[in-house]
Amino acid sequence: MNMAEIDVERIRKDFPILKVQMNGKELAYLDSAATSQKPRQVISKIGKFYKTYNANIHRGLYKISEEATEEYIKSKDVCAKFIHAGKSNQIIYVKNTTEAINLVALSWGDANIGEGDRILISKMEHHSNIVPWQMLAKRKKAVLDYIEITEGMQLDILDYKKKLERKPKLVALTHASNVLGTINDAKNLTRLAHEAEALVLIDGAQSTPHIPINLREIDCDFFAFSSHKMLGPSGIGVLYAKEEMLEAMNPLFGGGDMIRSVDLQESTWNDLPWKFEAGTQNIEGAIGFGAAVKYLKKLGMESVHSHEKKLTKYALKRVGEMGYVKVYGPGIEHIDQRLGVISFAIKGVHPHDAAAVFDSEGIAIRSGHHCAMPLMRGVLGEPALCRMSFYIYNKEEEIDRAIVAIEKARKMFSRG
Ligand SMILES: Cc1ncc(COP(=O)(O)O)c(C=O)c1O
Repeated sequence: MNMAEIDVERIRKDFPILKVQMNGKELAYLDSAATSQKPRQVISKIGKFYKTYNANIHRGLYKISEEATEEYIKSKDVCAKFIHAGKSNQIIYVKNTTEAINLVALSWGDANIGEGDRILISKMEHHSNIVPWQMLAKRKKAVLDYIEITEGMQLDILDYKKKLERKPKLVALTHASNVLGTINDAKNLTRLAHEAEALVLIDGAQSTPHIPINLREIDCDFFAFSSHKMLGPSGIGVLYAKEEMLEAMNPLFGGGDMIRSVDLQESTWNDLPWKFEAGTQNIEGAIGFGAAVKYLKKLGMESVHSHEKKLTKYALKRVGEMGYVKVYGPGIEHIDQRLGVISFAIKGVHPHDAAAVFDSEGIAIRSGHHCAMPLMRGVLGEPALCRMSFYIYNKEEEIDRAIVAIEKARKMFSRG
């Protein structure tokens, strides 16, 4: 395989924020699972739009509107190729992963889920892949089932197969956990669900920024992800769906652009993907997102994943040497099925106290419930944890600094 190594120092030069100091120290940004930083290529692409061709899309018969429309459409093409979607009309722009999942729950769900029907999710889901299904289940008197997690912090496949026997209409699973780092085998999970005649939604919020995605291989019916976690701007994300799904689904919002024709009492819908994009869209977001995808594509997603695996291996080794730190997630032996997301508890130290120490050291980490309460409280028995997460711009020295911060937090706060 032709896989170039990531040149971190060169990449870091593309990210202006990495020159910023936090509390008098060089910023070590270890919170990319929450949102990623943005390279100058994305920032300047958005700036160029506003400075030189800001206009509404699909509407103006003048040069700069045509240019804006062209760039907007181009970003869909780039995105479709990036995830091997087949056609760019299967790419629906939404606000984020959360909106994409809600769109499916409200449009497909309301039309296809009835009383007593089952929806199957897992105990490692982010709230955005739990709450929309709870709301749908309540509306329709349907049943929400959960797949258990093994002690090794993987999906319990035996339990999955058992729950599939209950014939759910939809299986909605995360491709990668934002708490455990576990990467699920989306292709195999989809195959098993299809054999049980269930449709499949995959939450790709954490996977798409970090590993190669091939939707033709995975074969899921719906796939959701957010631009802001993959070097792009906030406020734009993607719902991918199989064409026949999108054709059969009703639009969620009515208004401009999503119609073919409007009469006094009736309207007809525009072609895909415009049927699902009512009103003026996040044009600059789409254009910036296209630039972000191009940036990642140039690096190569195999290289991105390989770089992060190296960092994760190093961090797991260093943290593993500290007897008072407990990591929740697959161990080093499962490094290939793991993202650079490390959730941990420091014995005797509250995660918020630890995060404050990290902050004083110029290191940004996440602490809290990570929007996954059923996993944290119900499975791990931890109301809160610290989490460091890595991306293309992180380096080993930042992990060394995190280790020093853990030691400092332990000295300052531990009563154990
Ligand atoms: C696994 C997972 N799913 C969904 C989301 C929701 O993403 P967004 O807030 O961009 O809608 C997140 C965000 O952290 C996530 O980690």
